[in-house]
Amino acid sequence: MALIELAGLEKSFHNRKTGDTQVLRGIDLAIEEGQTVCVVGESGCGKTTLGKILAGLQGYTGGTYTYRGQEVATLKGKLWKQYRTDVQMIHQNPYESLNPTQMVFDIISAPIKHHRKIRDFAVLYQEVVRLLEMVGLTPVDDFIDKYPVNLSGGQRQRVSIARILCMNPKFIVVDEATSMIDTSLRISLLATLKRIQEELKVAYLYITHDLALGRYFAWGQRLAVMYLGEVIELGPTGDVVEDPHHPYTKAILSAGSIATDNSYDLKGVDIPSFQHIPSGCSLSPRCPEMIPGVCNVVKPPLHTTSPGRCVACHLYAAEGPRTTEGPRSTENLGTTEGQRSTENPRTGQGRNA
Ligand SMILES: Nc1ncnc2c1ncn2[C@@H]1O[C@H](COP(=O)(O)OP(=O)(O)OP(=O)(O)O)[C@@H](O)[C@H]1O
Ligand code: SF4
Ligand SMILES: [Mg+2]
Repeated sequence: MALIELAGLEKSFHNRKTGDTQVLRGIDLAIEEGQTVCVVGESGCGKTTLGKILAGLQGYTGGTYTYRGQEVATLKGKLWKQYRTDVQMIHQNPYESLNPTQMVFDIISAPIKHHRKIRDFAVLYQEVVRLLEMVGLTPVDDFIDKYPVNLSGGQRQRVSIARILCMNPKFIVVDEATSMIDTSLRISLLATLKRIQEELKVAYLYITHDLALGRYFAWGQRLAVMYLGEVIELGPTGDVVEDPHHPYTKAILSAGSIATDNSYDLKGVDIPSFQHIPSGCSLSPRCPEMIPGVCNVVKPPLHTTSPGRCVACHLYAAEGPRTTEGPRSTENLGTTEGQRSTENPRTGQGRNA
């Protein structure tokens, strides 16, 4: 059983003027204990919404989300408390997430007192020292009695991490955690998170719009590419980065900071909004490989192309890549709503395997 399992996860926001807007449109994803999935996608595609739902900070409006086999929406009492302790989130802005009036010792010790009920000062102090060492804020004496205003962005983010680690989490959503700190310090912070994963076997959902950082952080693990509220490609990070299948993945690789041999551009049209999702494949108005009469009519399901590797694109349909020379009739491609493959697109296993 995976630690986290999403099947057809949906989220709609209600607005009195515009009604419901669906921003997560059927996400299938699994995260195993101690593993990382990096979610990459452009601004507004739904990454933070997904992260907040997984961290229990927001509800979902459709599909299922199970944590250790239990549907999160049904958790109550002790089980809900345990889930909320196990699952934590590191937010983008370390300037907002720490109380400016508290010293580092108080910031980290407050949840320890609350959750683990350590009252003995010497024991509490030793625990805070241990956590500061774990996140690399050493020598500890230089940090323990400082206020957030005395710390750099990277140091504040490390305090946020220490405060989360005191709860012994099993799963952490890391949402653009390095985007507001100096470039030179980003890799060092990510290396600390990776070391913590090795020591504590914690699982991560690492959210970023920067594919180069995603590749670094999730190397040897898995990468999911999101577009307009859907996962459109998922697989081992190295495979996706070195041999992208989906046109959108090719485009963000070509536009990003990872050197690629091939330039690949999307058409210069506006990015569709959630209020006006294109019919068929949601990338079809921007996609240079769009197959008229197919891509703009039929939504491609996320299906498995090789074990653990999935893509939602008609060019990689179950029967093999399709080209404009040989488009199939739309009847063969499922309903216009798209169909889920009988294989489990999250793991590449059969649904009942
Ligand atoms: N509370 C909310 N109420 C209404 N709409 C919301 C709410 N939160 C997010 N949205 C909308 O949901 C969509 C996805 O937002 P989200 O913040 O998840 O995107 P993101 O991928 O994290 O973007 P970024 O890279 O800019 O952080 C956006 O259109 C956003 O306006
Ligand atoms: S399904 Fe068609 S429009 Fe969508 S990404 Fe694939 S080729 Fe492009
Ligand atoms: Mg975000």
